[in-house]
Amino acid sequence: MKTFPRLARSAALVAAVLVAACSPAKYDEQPKQEAAAGTARAVAPVLTTPDAKDIHSFARPEVARVTHVALDLAADFAAKRLAGTATLDVQAAPGAEEIVLDSKGLEIAAVTNGEGQKLQYTVGQADPNLGAPLTVRLNGAQQVRISYKSAPEAAALQWLDPEQTAGKKHPFLFSQGQAILNRTWIPTQDSPGIRQTWEARIVVPAPLRAVMSGEDLTPKGEEAKGGRAYRYRMNQPVAPYLIALAAGDLAFRELGACSGVYAEPATIAAAAREFSDTERMITAAEELYGPYRWGRYDMIVLPPSFPFGGMENPRLTFLTPTLLAGDKSLVATVAHELAHSWSGNLVTNATWADFWLNEGFTTYFQSRIMEKLYGKEATDREIALGWDELQETMNDQGGPASPRTVLHLDLKGVDPDEGMTEIAYEKGAAFLRTLEQAVGRERWDAYLRSYFDRHAFQPMTAQLFLADLRDKLLRGDTAVGQQLRLEDWIYKPGIPANVAAAPAQAFAEVDGASRAYAAGGLISEVSFAGWSTSERLRFLNDLPRKLPKERLAELDRNFRLSDSTNSELLFAWLRLAIENRYDPAVPALDRFLTSMGRRKFVAPLFEALAAQGEWGRPIATRIYAKARPTYHAVTSGTVDKALATS
Ligand code: BES
Ligand code: ZN
Repeated sequence: MKTFPRLARSAALVAAVLVAACSPAKYDEQPKQEAAAGTARAVAPVLTTPDAKDIHSFARPEVARVTHVALDLAADFAAKRLAGTATLDVQAAPGAEEIVLDSKGLEIAAVTNGEGQKLQYTVGQADPNLGAPLTVRLNGAQQVRISYKSAPEAAALQWLDPEQTAGKKHPFLFSQGQAILNRTWIPTQDSPGIRQTWEARIVVPAPLRAVMSGEDLTPKGEEAKGGRAYRYRMNQPVAPYLIALAAGDLAFRELGACSGVYAEPATIAAAAREFSDTERMITAAEELYGPYRWGRYDMIVLPPSFPFGGMENPRLTFLTPTLLAGDKSLVATVAHELAHSWSGNLVTNATWADFWLNEGFTTYFQSRIMEKLYGKEATDREIALGWDELQETMNDQGGPASPRTVLHLDLKGVDPDEGMTEIAYEKGAAFLRTLEQAVGRERWDAYLRSYFDRHAFQPMTAQLFLADLRDKLLRGDTAVGQQLRLEDWIYKPGIPANVAAAPAQAFAEVDGASRAYAAGGLISEVSFAGWSTSERLRFLNDLPRKLPKERLAELDRNFRLSDSTNSELLFAWLRLAIENRYDPAVPALDRFLTSMGRRKFVAPLFEALAAQGEWGRPIATRIYAKARPTYHAVTSGTVDKALATS
């Protein structure tokens, strides 16, 4: 009798969970409603404080703002253009006469209201980073419809020839919106603090399938002129950089009840194997910081030119195929992108100055998910590698006094992309580990969970976070706040002395081995084969940067480094090889740089080559001539700059 009520309750719970499976729970489907006359859709608030002013958008949301975007676009692969209409729902302040949108390189044919009557508009002077303001005279309109085409060189979009795909038969298209690239294909207010719901109808030529970062309304597509139409919608307001599109010859595999993966047919089996822990990651994340509020969590493995490891597009994380190591050793990136479903997508940096609120929180959250799935030891090793990277970045960014090492960025006059370094990720995560250590895990976790609840579907700034932290975590205890040096962490360069220590014992064995080898020890004493990927990376990164050719040959021969199918390992090896002008590794370097376009790998390798003067420059020039046309604009833009200035 004693257990019966408990059983009954859990049965009811299971039923509730089954009913709710993969659909956002009713209570959090919509953000706090602002009174919006005449529209039933959720409208998220826009912050009006000075620290929330976005200098990378022309929008003036206090005058008039976009609340909803409806796209109707067709993909023309021959012309490399998306063409059609964007219909924007507008909420204007009383007396507002115009709305200012962001645009970059768009060819605009007409602007009308919802009834098709012409509206006057102007495209202002273009800034090389920001694009141009598109100002529309409202004339009382509550809807604005723009007929337009994206430019063939739209930086968000990459149009791939069949040769650049795994299947080699069909073209492929994908978009990358973060940070300010979506204005090259969507005329809207492209600011992370102006959340918008959206819907889209995308026509692509058969047999391609279009997928987006929203709810799939037409899994099989619909007949349409010029191909098939795919419709998607997102009823939860999102920052516009999170609207994403991919189209190609795509297969899909379920991974669990609420998750799955898309990839080209040639890649789908490997992708499904690699990411088979995803559903467990979702459960772990929910146990930590509350319900996953986006319904399904799917992923897509893109062709190798995708410029990032991953991108947290809601309901559909975009991933690089360089994560497919075959042994799940690189799945931390999935944990990372999943964590963004809370930090970034639910609570979003209001401006790019507070990019660390997205990435630092996410890097911290990522390691908490990893700990739950793979244990503390393995996770400590990843945290220790992150700490090493932070030290390296500190140096690269000009040392601990450099303003480039501040969390809250000053991005006046610069492309936000320039300010987005490892500092946001690793210093941000170190800050949160420091807070956790100070108040204890239990209190910290309860706070963080409530932070996501209280600010769900809203923009966030460093100032707001600090106020929230002082109020809800420290409960006004100013002495503790001062001890924690909160302001220093966010507004000063370098790393405050109260930083929580990085795990010290994580690499005890590896470090012993690398010291012995550096001192002339035998390679047979290095038990590389028995190590995890993190341990192997630490070993390679900790070797003396200058090694005799025989030692490099021995490393390569024994550990088959040039043939490594683990992208992180190959990258670490190639860096070491370049620094030593080691010719036998050049063919592997050439292969790597012409087979994928992930910026994190590509840019440092070209920089390292350029730093090797008469040896490296010609190699860089030769390989880049072949590789550049295959890279996404995000990657080629960075490499162009690096090769021009070094
Ligand atoms: N949101 C970022 C990718 C990004 C950052 C795009 C800045 C545009 C501008 C994504 O979540 C990310 O951080 N990806 C990392 C992987 C992660 C494990 C550090 C990457 O791409 O390597
Ligand atoms: Zn991230």
